[in-house]
Amino acid sequence: MSGVMLLDDGFVFPKSFDISVLENLPIYKHHYGMPMEANPTTLYWTEYQPSRPGTGTISFARKLYIEYPEVAMYLAGYLNSLFPRINFDYRRVNLLKTKGNIQPHVDESNRMCCINIGIKNSSLAVTRSSCVKDKDLFEGNYQETVCKDNHAYLLDTSSYHEVVSKDDAVERYLFTFGLGVSFETMKKEFRG
Ligand SMILES: [Fe+2]
Repeated sequence: MSGVMLLDDGFVFPKSFDISVLENLPIYKHHYGMPMEANPTTLYWTEYQPSRPGTGTISFARKLYIEYPEVAMYLAGYLNSLFPRINFDYRRVNLLKTKGNIQPHVDESNRMCCINIGIKNSSLAVTRSSCVKDKDLFEGNYQETVCKDNHAYLLDTSSYHEVVSKDDAVERYLFTFGLGVSFETMKKEFRG
């Protein structure tokens, strides 16, 4: 069984959103276990620091809607077109940035699965996804996917997954929407 599903290959990027914004947001370094700002009032990257030297970083920019409400609403509408019975709160549309290799992990904070939409440089990494809950079983039991810009994917983040970079100097950008609903349930809801 796979931990990834291609949902759509025809996302139309919102014309009003300038991609260069992504490269110019402030960056706050975050170490695992540190408290997160409960209620951010500006848009910035929270950059999770690698657990081991030499590994890559993953960053979230929460609350896209604070500075780009139309973009967040457009994304929520798009997600709703894929999952008509699911309510997507535009205030929970986030940006995601990855750089370098991201080690095998499961996501925190009840993020059971997520929908990722490639924005820029998506294809410069291989995502290894699985339906494996035990890290020792991950090796040899993953599926490799090269994500593409303007494609939307459902990813099982409650199972082990990993990102292997093809170019460590490049930052990859996505829209992401995390869900506290299982991957299997969301698969059933797709265009349901
Ligand atoms: Fe993850």
